Amino acid sequence: MDFNKRTHNCGELREKNIGENVVLNGWVDNRRDLGGVIFIDLRDRYGITQVVFEPTYNSSAHETGKELRTEYVISIEGKVRKRPEGTENPVIATGEVDVMVDKVIILNSSLTTPFQIKDNIDVSEELRLKYRYLDLRRERMKNNILTRHKVYGIVRNYFNNNNFVEIETPYLMKSTPEGARDFLVPSRLHKGKFYALPQSPQTYKQILMVAGFDRYYQIVKCFRDEDLRADRQPEFTQIDVEMSFVHEEDIFSTVEGLMKEIFKKIKNVDLQLPLPRLTFDEAMEKYGSDKPDLRFNLEMVTLNEIFNNSEFRVFKDTLETGGIITALLAKGCGNYTRNQLDVLTDYVKKLGAGGLIWMRVKENGLEAPVAKFLSENEKSAIIDKLNAENGDLVFIISGKKLKALSIMGALRLEMARRLDLINNNEQPNMLWVTDFPLFEWDDETQRYYAMHHPFTSPKLEDLELVKTDPSKARARAYDLVLNGNEIAGGSIRIHNSALQSKMFNALGISQKEAEEKFGFLLEAFKYGAPPHGGIAFGLDRMVMLLTGNSSIRDVIAFPKTTSGLSLMDGSPSDVSKEQLRELHLKVRE
Ligand code: AMO
Repeated sequence: MDFNKRTHNCGELREKNIGENVVLNGWVDNRRDLGGVIFIDLRDRYGITQVVFEPTYNSSAHETGKELRTEYVISIEGKVRKRPEGTENPVIATGEVDVMVDKVIILNSSLTTPFQIKDNIDVSEELRLKYRYLDLRRERMKNNILTRHKVYGIVRNYFNNNNFVEIETPYLMKSTPEGARDFLVPSRLHKGKFYALPQSPQTYKQILMVAGFDRYYQIVKCFRDEDLRADRQPEFTQIDVEMSFVHEEDIFSTVEGLMKEIFKKIKNVDLQLPLPRLTFDEAMEKYGSDKPDLRFNLEMVTLNEIFNNSEFRVFKDTLETGGIITALLAKGCGNYTRNQLDVLTDYVKKLGAGGLIWMRVKENGLEAPVAKFLSENEKSAIIDKLNAENGDLVFIISGKKLKALSIMGALRLEMARRLDLINNNEQPNMLWVTDFPLFEWDDETQRYYAMHHPFTSPKLEDLELVKTDPSKARARAYDLVLNGNEIAGGSIRIHNSALQSKMFNALGISQKEAEEKFGFLLEAFKYGAPPHGGIAFGLDRMVMLLTGNSSIRDVIAFPKTTSGLSLMDGSPSDVSKEQLRELHLKVRE
């Protein structure tokens, strides 16, 4: 059936429109039949308008009005009137007026929806994902997607105004390991060969710098076949950036300018610049994380010095093997019961800690199961160093440095939750973490991996260490952290073919393998590669935080479940034998 085109959308009518004849199109959000008079809340993307079917005003419209059910799609024609006194609805923008219906056309009916199109309903995420088009009709989800759209616009404007060029890079590319597992696409034309979907456009954007584009950006899909979590999806979106002839400071100021604009335009918050910075070492030592949440003031304290001559076996062993003894003061928690302390001990043990040492701070000193192993001097030094007071609780974890610090970092977050220290309404807490280690050692495979990626430049003063003591070499890498979440990461790159080869060497990648996998990049570097560096934002994560959500699935129109399924269209799915044959593939039983 044809329909009358709207004169206004459902969020538009105001008192100034009273008396006008209007046409509205939309969905039936809600229907109330009050003794003959039918009220419908008509909804579209822009808002809600109440429309009224009154038998004495127009009996044929009223007859059709009786047939309407929620989520029917209708077109109405009618006259705007001021709502009778006392029936105004200040909650909606059109709440001063309603529309007396002269004519209604039912454009489509709807089955009863499997859940209500309303915020704050009790519905499983599975059902929401299966009927995503209904889920996206809900106000909160709609607003998430609209905010995301607004962010795209701000990003594009910002980079366009700053001389950046938007360039698309291929989705079918060479498999070049970047940390996660690749999604592979079999080639039909080239038997037995595969494309990979990009984990990021990293190599392309570097080559665009060699090509002379100077400043590049792209809002781009990236694909990683990794274990999924609330803040990870197999396909996600990056705001990807690369710049030539730059140092870290240039990247920082470019990114800070963007963040200022996003926060002003989305949240009306004035971000204070420059953003604070912490080195990786500082972040780990004080907060036990490379994405420290600084919305609350709880710092870990290293106690190694206190125990230089300790008789306590655990601490002695830790110090002899180059480990760390880290402490956390939980203010006013001295009254935690044994049961509560057992729960926290289990918590850190699950993360791999040998145990959790706790001490109650009393008027006359420390009370703890391990107190008998510590000297009076050590006990009073702990109290002094932590500024501990009667009624406080001290936690200590000792062990291998990064492991012990990370576990204490997790306990720090857990205590912040328990003590309700995280104030979500405050200013966004944003900072740079810099000077990451270049490599991380993997016990399982007994080799180093690039902590960021293999194209990241070592700090110039650490060049020698790449060969002599890789574990000590630092990278020109940086992350941007928002409220304890890593929202962007990048680095100044290696732009010299010889140094890049040296780096592959340190990573245990043979010359042959490097040639096979990255030959095109090494080759490009031989033709006048400028110094360059860049960064990539996790756009989904950023929008998740901007909209106050705790899962990136809520800011992605069609996300996958944590097991990588798309419940709406049922992918991944079987394909025909014919399709497999064309691709020269056979599925192993
Ligand atoms: P990196 O791997 O740190 O860097 O990724 C950049 C940002 O992307 C986001 N992110 C993800 N978001 C959702 N789901 C995922 N599976 C996922 N993985 C990463 C994070 C992260 O900070 N090429 C480099 C960037 C560069 O060096 O310029 C890169 O991809 O917010």
